Amino acid sequence: MIKKVKILEFAPTADEIWRIPKHSKDGYTSYDPEIGLISILDTAHDAKPRPEIMAIYAGGKATNVARVLDKLLDADNDTEIELITFLPPPADGPLQKLKPIECDGFQILPSTPSGIYVQCLQISNLSRVRPRFEIIDELHEKDGMQTTRRCIEITLKDDIASMNFSPRIIWSQESAYAVLSRVAQIVKGTDLVVIAGAPPTWHVRKGERLTPDTFYSAINDLLDDDCKLSIDARGNYIHECLSAVKPPRFIFMNRDEFDEADNFWKELNGRKFAGSLFVHDKDGCWIWDGRFPYAEDKFFGADYLPAIKVNKVFSTIGAGDAMHAGFLKEWICSEQEYDELSSQKRLHHCITYSQVVSAVSVSNEKATHGIDALMVNKEFKKIRR
Ligand SMILES: Nc1ncnc2c1ncn2[C@@H]1O[C@H](COP(=O)(O)OP(=O)(O)O)[C@@H](O)[C@H]1O
Ligand SMILES: [Mg+2]
Repeated sequence: MIKKVKILEFAPTADEIWRIPKHSKDGYTSYDPEIGLISILDTAHDAKPRPEIMAIYAGGKATNVARVLDKLLDADNDTEIELITFLPPPADGPLQKLKPIECDGFQILPSTPSGIYVQCLQISNLSRVRPRFEIIDELHEKDGMQTTRRCIEITLKDDIASMNFSPRIIWSQESAYAVLSRVAQIVKGTDLVVIAGAPPTWHVRKGERLTPDTFYSAINDLLDDDCKLSIDARGNYIHECLSAVKPPRFIFMNRDEFDEADNFWKELNGRKFAGSLFVHDKDGCWIWDGRFPYAEDKFFGADYLPAIKVNKVFSTIGAGDAMHAGFLKEWICSEQEYDELSSQKRLHHCITYSQVVSAVSVSNEKATHGIDALMVNKEFKKIRR
């Protein structure tokens, strides 16, 4: 039984969507699609663009997964699911005197102003999944470290173009070790751990084995024998996990990420693997269960489920995270129902559900924020394969 799930967020993020309107005095924007150039015209040489703030919410890939899962979970499901975010402590000064703020069973912890902002945003968007914050002293922002961030998506008035400013999360070697050892404590007694997105970067000290490329595999290695990992990340961040004695139970990759990892498939060439690999694109999803792809003919022998057709695509932002969340929702909630069925049937069932979730997400003006359990369940009933 899956009783405890922990979703790990290493990139505490506030996402803001700004829209720059066209204004004769405050400035103009224009977009040249041929060369992909966005220009902001400084009309009066001291013009100040006055963006409208369209939306603000907690970002980060793992947070996206948690937020969609939160919306989709069945009311009678009682799995304990936590979204755990790793944050810096407050800098010297009055914030250090702040006490934790109690909030309906959650605690907002003293952190940097930006760390407190992210906590407030996360709490606002979760009801079923419990947000939990972990302050790591070594994440103290110094020497160019950036341990929380604001990602700003700037869209132009007529929405023909947008640009996403997305600072990297930058840790230090010490902080990577400190987070890892906190993770080791947190995941004890957990049935399923969820990781999504790229890990933070840091300047790797000479001779150190813990690097951004090995960070996820270091987490995989410290999980209990019966704790499973579900991971959605580019190939180079999961390479080491693939040949582990106990590899991740579920691996999600989009088609580009899969093709980019061709060297790994050469190396692993059809080898047995105690997990499932899902490769998706807008047209469908390939499934390998129990073995890796063959190098000479990658898709040979993989199961394939075509995507759910949508009439109009509004936004594909976060659609992959929605898919991951949809899969996990159905995997968690269909456990008893599918107890006696073959593993292949259950995987197909869960992937089909995940495809409905991503189709609902892309065909919705609010993208992942517009996902609604009723709508998803209705669509899922229609196409149950
Ligand atoms: N038009 C579409 N119809 C159905 N599903 C789609 C469509 N566009 C995207 N998707 C789904 O969303 C996924 C996007 O995943 P990915 O590229 O990993 O995006 P991200 O990581 O940015 O969320 C696709 O692989 C597909 O499964
Ligand atoms: Mg993705």
